[in-house]
Amino acid sequence: MNQTEKRKKEHVDIAVNENVRADYNFWDDVRLVHNALPEINMDEIDLSTNIFGRELQAPIIISGMTGGYREGKKINEILARVAEEYRIGMGVGSQRSALENENLKDTYSIVKEFDVPLKIANIGAPQIVQWDEKVLTENIEKIIDMIDADVLAICLNFLQEVIQPEGETHARGCIDAIDFLTEEFNIPIIIKETGAGISGSVAKKLSKLDIAGIDIGGYGGTSFAAIEYYRAKMMNSWLYERLGKTFWDWGIPAPVSLMEVLEVVNDGITIIASGGIRNGLDAAKAIALGADCAGIAYTMLKAAVNGLEEAMKEMEAITEEVRSAMFLVGAENVEQLKSAEVELWI
Ligand SMILES: Cc1cc2nc3c(=O)[nH]c(=O)nc-3n(C[C@H](O)[C@H](O)[C@H](O)COP(=O)(O)O)c2cc1C
Repeated sequence: MNQTEKRKKEHVDIAVNENVRADYNFWDDVRLVHNALPEINMDEIDLSTNIFGRELQAPIIISGMTGGYREGKKINEILARVAEEYRIGMGVGSQRSALENENLKDTYSIVKEFDVPLKIANIGAPQIVQWDEKVLTENIEKIIDMIDADVLAICLNFLQEVIQPEGETHARGCIDAIDFLTEEFNIPIIIKETGAGISGSVAKKLSKLDIAGIDIGGYGGTSFAAIEYYRAKMMNSWLYERLGKTFWDWGIPAPVSLMEVLEVVNDGITIIASGGIRNGLDAAKAIALGADCAGIAYTMLKAAVNGLEEAMKEMEAITEEVRSAMFLVGAENVEQLKSAEVELWI
């Protein structure tokens, strides 16, 4: 196993076995206002939505997490089966390791074996800034083909890179590289944070580019500083252990990030709310605040490592929670949920 594979495995193992949650989950500060007279029938509620031109049966995406090491293939397979069954979207983790090692391609391309309605390719901004235009174009073509992607996500994970002993902290040139990709490729491109959130001012810069969406990846759920804290501890790297602890709770609370982003972007940009979405109620809250759909990472990862049955049950519960929340606010469809009444305690 090379360094990248080892790192990928450690991320999943630590995320599942250690407590890497943020100190506080801010979705608890968002409440949907109960409608005692919903005047709709629960069995007539329609959860379907259209995201990036793809029809989903629920406004849910399993956020990109894994691939790039052997056991990652099984996890992606389970998640793809769930996405196929529930007709929802799914992303894979950063595909960089398959660009470095062809033998790992199948740990991502396994998702092609399933009829997933929306597949999202993934690569880190710290990687794309290091490639010249020719290499960038070739690599992006490869990762799109690898999973037959409908959408490409460029992930912003500088918090994680800061705390990794092997972290890549070159952030100069990201905007130009994204701009280049939007001109070069027809595929919808989304910009995705990984748990530290996107501010209004960053969203404003992004909205000047020809991007299709933003995944806010806000603070309040999985803390990548926490994951790297445990890795640093394993490596006896006192400095990065210290940094991981100090920055454990760094970031913009997910609902705050969502509201800031919604304020500055135009209607044409699809907004995925993620970071700390633990269940269908959190997902419904995010949509009521104005997101187009919700992204779920850790909750589905934890279920998937316990096997297909657990992962299917988790998604059944999540979709039923969304439906129940819709009933209790009197929303017959996702558009109506978007205008449901919300109380904020943030
Ligand atoms: C083990 C693990 C690996 C991840 N790897 C990636 C990745 O490669 N690319 C990416 O964009 N996000 C990655 N993420 C971030 C998630 O997509 C998501 O943004 C973040 O975990 C917050 O969501 P959550 O609170 O529901 O876990 C990863 C998350 C976990 C838990």
